[in-house]
Amino acid sequence: MVAKAHVKGLAQYKEMYERSTSDPDAFWAEQADAVHWEKKWTPPLCQSNIDVENGPVHISWFVGAETNVAYNCLDRHIEAGLGDRVAMYWEGNDEGEERVLTYSELKSMVCRIANYLKSLGVKRGSDVTMYMSLVPELPAAMLACARIGAVHSVVFGGFSAEALSGRILDSQPNVVITSSGTMRGPKPIGLKAIVDDALEICEKHGHTVQHVLVLEQLPLAEVGGSMKPGRDVTWREAVDSQSDECPVEWLPAEAPLFKLYTSGSTGKPKGVLHTTAGYMLGALVTTKYVFDLQPATDVYWCTADCGWITGHTYVAYGPMLLGATQVLFEGVPTWPDAGRCWSIVDKYKVTIVYTAPTAIRALHAKGDAYVTRYSRASLRLLGSVGEPINPEAWRWYHQVVGGGRCPIVDTWWQTETGAHMITPLPGATPLKPGSATLPFFGVEPVVLDDKGNELQGPCEGVLCIKKPWPSMMRTVAGDHARFEQTYFSAYKGYYFTGDGCRRDADGYYWITGRVDDVLNVSGHRIGTAEVESALVEHPSCVEAAVVGVEHPIKGQSIYAFVTLMTGVEPNDTLRKELIATVRKIIGPFAAPDIIHWAPGLPKTRSGKIMRRVLRKIAAKEEDQLGDTSTLADPSVVQVLVELRGK
Ligand code: PRX
Repeated sequence: MVAKAHVKGLAQYKEMYERSTSDPDAFWAEQADAVHWEKKWTPPLCQSNIDVENGPVHISWFVGAETNVAYNCLDRHIEAGLGDRVAMYWEGNDEGEERVLTYSELKSMVCRIANYLKSLGVKRGSDVTMYMSLVPELPAAMLACARIGAVHSVVFGGFSAEALSGRILDSQPNVVITSSGTMRGPKPIGLKAIVDDALEICEKHGHTVQHVLVLEQLPLAEVGGSMKPGRDVTWREAVDSQSDECPVEWLPAEAPLFKLYTSGSTGKPKGVLHTTAGYMLGALVTTKYVFDLQPATDVYWCTADCGWITGHTYVAYGPMLLGATQVLFEGVPTWPDAGRCWSIVDKYKVTIVYTAPTAIRALHAKGDAYVTRYSRASLRLLGSVGEPINPEAWRWYHQVVGGGRCPIVDTWWQTETGAHMITPLPGATPLKPGSATLPFFGVEPVVLDDKGNELQGPCEGVLCIKKPWPSMMRTVAGDHARFEQTYFSAYKGYYFTGDGCRRDADGYYWITGRVDDVLNVSGHRIGTAEVESALVEHPSCVEAAVVGVEHPIKGQSIYAFVTLMTGVEPNDTLRKELIATVRKIIGPFAAPDIIHWAPGLPKTRSGKIMRRVLRKIAAKEEDQLGDTSTLADPSVVQVLVELRGK
């Protein structure tokens, strides 16, 4: 495998890395040859300022160029004679539900959707929101937007109507694309009913969505929701009759490609904006090198949903930019049993699997027999993403799933970075379980101390990035000041990741987790502030403070301290109602596991909640509280300890 690999050893990685940072223009210009440019850029490749002290932050790559991401994902391969290559093997939630789409068939689907969108007046710069499960129509709809220059915003199908409405209100689309509903494991999910509720909330806030396109999956009679005449139209009526041909819109390099909402430490989720050319190149180059993807022979499978960045870069874009064959799986890894993933691997002869530590831990907990009953002989590479992978899970993934044969690429990156940032290259980078290892080409990580000084050699601190890279986000949609504030203000002159990390004597990076108030629950990013504001929506809740606690499968679970209105007695019904409130406002995946009744919260004299203290109480480590002399009322700590588990 190493003989054929794109990067054949550590020496070649080092040589390429050195060139990518010392002469980024030459490096990226060379990589850019892999795609079609309708018009070439004018040098320099990158025009930017990321130092807030030197004026507004701005980042542009490939200025003057014109291209189209959908063209590069589809037409380019078809024109090269690869139209009959399988683009997607789709596996539905239930066994036996399957579809196969070639690149030509996928392109036809994309063009039909694009033509329908155009008939509604969707054009360059228009926003389109999608709320679907992982069916081929979802990446196809994303590519349809890319083809005509519209900006997609995919909302994960696990978000509630309220959360969906917030995202719709922020980007104000005229069109929403959804499906009637589908099964998730054994449970029906009424996607259209959720969209109906979300649009009703939007109406109350003054935004009317004009058109809703509905893919017919389960009958609405079974899953709820209704078709509103004049607004809602079925896929069959609207899309199937459209032409298979739709001209490509050639777009400037910095034309917006998509918005994806993600949680931060404060306020509402923000719309991370990615643009055309730089994102395209980042997706392509990382998919090629990090998975060492050989499009003619590999069958690649990323288990992520298109509602998250991993599903954008490594389902909808990266593999298709390379002309690869991928598996798309709508279901969950434990349905109908914990062997489903490995049955899929055998069925499609999957060579590369890319998944999250939380899934690995959940499957590990079910026992090895579910894995070993399948051959998995086709596998040659395993990937991990979304949170630190603990060495125990790493070893199980490596030894049991991969039979000790397959390298693991532990890829560190973020919604904001667009593509992998710190990651091994298979066959080239010696692995250490639990470390994301070394930076990808063109990425210059630094570890800073709390005063913002760059640390050298082995060290621990906050992880920042020194220079712009092609696939980095360009702004927070509609709020550039928030972009500057969140990412460039804490450490001037650097992009601040929000993560802590350690660098060892070999220069390897070990991500230690978020240093801000962002939780990582089952690989999903959740702001503590969001959960807190959801809890206080309950009429009995005066104040809430949320922290994360270690969880053996989810990585972190949500632990909420709740102060009730005077006179309201805590009880189990109230506890359930509070949890239901969070499910309703954000979504089931953000539901707190624990509600801890808190007559008072530990606060400083200026009224700031000391989360450090709460984290210790939640983790039953009150013997390690540290300095509590700044607490306005130190006695609250003892009260909280006594109420734990009550
Ligand atoms: O804390 C890091 C963690 O996930 C955060 C980014 O979350 P999100 O934008 O939702 O993107 C997830 C998929 C890229 C990071 O700030 N994270 C992601 N990958 C890793 C990780 N932590 C440790 N190791 C990783 N491989």
